[in-house]
Amino acid sequence: MTESAPPRLYILGLGAIGGLLAAHLCKVLPLTLILRKPPTLADENAGEGTLNLCWQPLNGKRPREMLELKWSTVDAIAHPIDTLFITTKSYQVESAIEQVRAILAEDTRIVMMQNGLGSQHRLMEQLPKKQIYAATTTEGANIRETANRRLWLHAGKGKTHLGPLTNAAKQRSCTDIVSWLNNAGLDCEFAGNIMQALWNKLCINCGINPFTALLNCPNGRIIEAELFRSKIAALSEELAFASSHAGFPQQSAQIERQIRQVAEKTAENISSMLQDIRAGRKTEIDAINGFAWRYAEQYGLPYTVNKDLTEKVRRISQPAI
Ligand code: PAF
Repeated sequence: MTESAPPRLYILGLGAIGGLLAAHLCKVLPLTLILRKPPTLADENAGEGTLNLCWQPLNGKRPREMLELKWSTVDAIAHPIDTLFITTKSYQVESAIEQVRAILAEDTRIVMMQNGLGSQHRLMEQLPKKQIYAATTTEGANIRETANRRLWLHAGKGKTHLGPLTNAAKQRSCTDIVSWLNNAGLDCEFAGNIMQALWNKLCINCGINPFTALLNCPNGRIIEAELFRSKIAALSEELAFASSHAGFPQQSAQIERQIRQVAEKTAENISSMLQDIRAGRKTEIDAINGFAWRYAEQYGLPYTVNKDLTEKVRRISQPAI
């Protein structure tokens, strides 16, 4: 009996979450990063088709590792892709799909891992027949950049939920993907209703990210700030209306409690939005408070705090890269 070859996984988008996934999954399965061009930093270029990813495992207790990962441009991928993780920023999903469209097979599974909401809906509209899944995670992940090196850091242990978005995805099991992530050391659970998990995470991001960006501080410091204290109750109420209208009833007190808990639990973490601002990148505010604002406005629900935070963050963030 011949054993079938293990599946090869592909990751498109080498940001903080892409690096976190790559550093874990490369230990259990063959993996290829899809890049537009060879790595430009001298320290990262490990020769023909390989890239050095400098990885700091959790809490800095274990030594840094230099992981040698395979990479490829889209043109050089000759065989159909079974499972593709898209870990780009939310506003880059459409262009990422255009980049790989030619190598998507009929039964390719696409796993989206973006902050916020909106990009998932747009991809489902763009590719309604494809097997599209989404995952959301509370793992803390950062990138620290110097002139000639990028360091990917595992900043905090969290939990990942993964489940199907499209009907095509609902008809095919993704328990193997969940198992790969667990075997790789990420605590992952199947979510039959992944939209609910995405809405829960959206509420947490709406209550943490804009405050860290505007106050230029780690997550834990927002709680004592006047800006947070004056807005959090009304913001949680707006989020409760929106989430409940979307079919995921939540009380505003429960949302506020969760926001405070996550801010405390990840007190030292620099949120993804503040990381973007500090690195001069466009932020994901439009997929976070901007999404909540537009959703609420569309259905005649209250939205003034989400609108105000969105506009304030837009004013301090860069245009699209
Ligand atoms: O976007 C982030 O940084 C994270 O989702 C969270 C939960 C706010 C922790 O930093």
